[in-house]
Amino acid sequence: MRDKVVIVTGGSKGLGKYMAKDFVENGAKVVITGRNEDSLTAAKKEIAHENGEIDTIQMDVSDVSAVKKTVNTVIEKWGRIDVLVNNAAVRKETGIEEIDEEEWNNIVSINLGGTFFFSQAVIEQMKSQKWGRIINVSSYGGQAGPLTSGAHYCASKAGQFALTKTFARYLADSGITVNTVSPAAIESPEMEKMDSGKLKVMKRSIPVQRFGKSEEVAKMVSYLASDSTGYITGATFDINGGLLMR
Ligand SMILES: NC(=O)c1ccc[n+]([C@@H]2O[C@H](COP(=O)([O-])OP(=O)(O)OC[C@H]3O[C@@H](n4cnc5c(N)ncnc54)[C@H](OP(=O)(O)O)[C@@H]3O)[C@@H](O)[C@H]2O)c1
Repeated sequence: MRDKVVIVTGGSKGLGKYMAKDFVENGAKVVITGRNEDSLTAAKKEIAHENGEIDTIQMDVSDVSAVKKTVNTVIEKWGRIDVLVNNAAVRKETGIEEIDEEEWNNIVSINLGGTFFFSQAVIEQMKSQKWGRIINVSSYGGQAGPLTSGAHYCASKAGQFALTKTFARYLADSGITVNTVSPAAIESPEMEKMDSGKLKVMKRSIPVQRFGKSEEVAKMVSYLASDSTGYITGATFDINGGLLMR
């Protein structure tokens, strides 16, 4: 990854922070985004490593003008964008009968809209380089329905699979690959918010009998971002301990 320029949306916490850390340790120049400035500053401190560079941009992925501005800022600073990881998301557990229009629109515009508009914004630059990697971080919830999450979250995560295939076909002859990683039940701050009873039941149902680790997701993302994966596009990589076998 030496000198590759990488954007990890939602890189200030959870899985995204581990992805950014892995990229920086492997020599990349990485920008992490998020809405909360303090979380970004704390993550930057944690991720910093002599092998690579780390920068932060405070922005909201559901704000299309902020997405375009972020992409332009990265190009002005580092002259290219090699890898985009669409990781930022919000998860809620609201029941079907309680989800209102505002909550629906908020979740869908962050999780699905953010993935679409960020990908749209980087493709001109990636096409000019004749090289690029877009990696969408979806979820088991978008494949099999919820373990604990709401219908809006699952629907937005399902939509990411369609975006992966649409962009992958469109960009296939431009040296740009587009793939999805689909985790389930990864140890993270988000998991700490879940009901402990539900977590116990979930763990018992995972064939490998444990939860996943953020590092395991980060390694898959790093692999998909590498030079070795030019023949892999439009694909889904499940990271779920065997919970869903297809
Ligand atoms: N953890 C799991 O077990 C699991 C399982 C399946 C799938 N996933 C997927 O993995 C990804 C990361 O999940 P996670 O558990 O690491 O979540 P997390 O700990 O809640 O982190 C989410 C990140 O996204 C950022 N973010 C949220 N809304 C944003 C917005 N509107 N604009 C910009 N940044 C925003 C957050 O920062 P701010 O809040 O400061 O904006 C934070 O950096 C998600 O796509 C999720 O669907 C996770």
